[in-house]
Amino acid sequence: MAMTPVISPAVKADFPLLSKVEVGGRPIVYLDSASTSQKPRAVIEAMDEFAETTYANVHRGVYGIAAAATERYEAARAKVARFVGAPSANGIVFTKNVTEAMNLVAYSWGRANLDAGDVVVLSEIEHHANLVPWLMLREERGIELRFIRMADDYTLDLSDLDALLDGAKLLGVTAMSNVLGTLTPVRQLTDAAHAAGALCLVDGAQYVPHLPTDVRELGCDFFGFTGHKMLGPTGIGVLWAREELLDAMPAFLGGGEMIRDVRLDGWTPNDIPWKFEAGTPPIVEVIGLGAAIDYLEEVGMSAVREHEIELSGYALRTLADRFGDELLVQGPSDPTARGGVFSFSYRDVHPHDLSQVLDERGVCVRAGHHCAKPLMRRLGVGATARASIYLYNDHSDIDALADALEAAGEFFSL
Ligand SMILES: Cc1ncc(COP(=O)(O)O)c(C=O)c1O
Repeated sequence: MAMTPVISPAVKADFPLLSKVEVGGRPIVYLDSASTSQKPRAVIEAMDEFAETTYANVHRGVYGIAAAATERYEAARAKVARFVGAPSANGIVFTKNVTEAMNLVAYSWGRANLDAGDVVVLSEIEHHANLVPWLMLREERGIELRFIRMADDYTLDLSDLDALLDGAKLLGVTAMSNVLGTLTPVRQLTDAAHAAGALCLVDGAQYVPHLPTDVRELGCDFFGFTGHKMLGPTGIGVLWAREELLDAMPAFLGGGEMIRDVRLDGWTPNDIPWKFEAGTPPIVEVIGLGAAIDYLEEVGMSAVREHEIELSGYALRTLADRFGDELLVQGPSDPTARGGVFSFSYRDVHPHDLSQVLDERGVCVRAGHHCAKPLMRRLGVGATARASIYLYNDHSDIDALADALEAAGEFFSL
């Protein structure tokens, strides 16, 4: 008996680019959502509608459309808060992307709370966004960085976690690796951090788009994510933090609405979250992020997760059946322990060459170090090819990937 798909195949038709862009007379096969997701018509139209009917600056004018723009901007903030289980919208700071969210924590909380010798624990599977700001702080302040290593089964090696956290002030960890797909045990890590007296910062860039998220259940103190990977536009990211932490943190960037008063002899900061939103914010992008959340809620995040577990299982089986030992997927083999990100090496073909040959058949996969160079070193490779799925992908996309890989195999064996 054929299984009923958890997500209707009709969802694909909601994403105009997936049918408009063709290669060789066939629609492209987009398998690079870990890099950035495609946008549904609902998001594109919501941004247009706002620009055509309500566009004005927010928190400044008192005329009709300015008040309406402010109301819709703040309503989107409340929607974001609800979507990730935040206790209130005041803990939601809009940033440019998750990279800026991580930098905000390092610059504001880090520079107010960390001095020479203070310990920050990270993992070696982090994206550069949660590495470089701390490496910079190490250079500037002389803080100590310790790293949770990756075990051979692509999970985090927690065997010496207590020792790593001993005396630490912060643990910063990704909820899901953008290279391996590994889901990390966030709750266990936050509990361990708190038991050691440290705060916990989570990079949710690959998590929020694909799994139901509740920051209270995760138990963390800071949580960042990025709009363009969750069907929203580029230019909008989010830092959620516990309100008392945000209240105590100094402003990050200065100017615009982040102040309550400015005198020639000083200034007073605004309340949170606006204290951290200097200058005109990405207004239309916030509206787009709100529309992306509406879309995801309509489909249901549990359905998204279920769909991706099923499709990940299919992808892993298909690649193993068709390519055996010639293709190595670097990541957990259990689809329930991972997200739909498949980094792989195929024979000794360079990932860039592979990606180019796949592109000729309309299959989009990313090749490179995926902004995780320390992890690449740990894996012993300079780069991998990476296919990643989302709610609009289906079995036919995985079959197209396998067919294109087979053709590439023939091409490179000539
Ligand atoms: C785990 C992780 N963190 C951070 C980022 C950075 O995202 P952005 O470029 O939107 O700041 C990415 C993007 O690839 C990611 O996968």
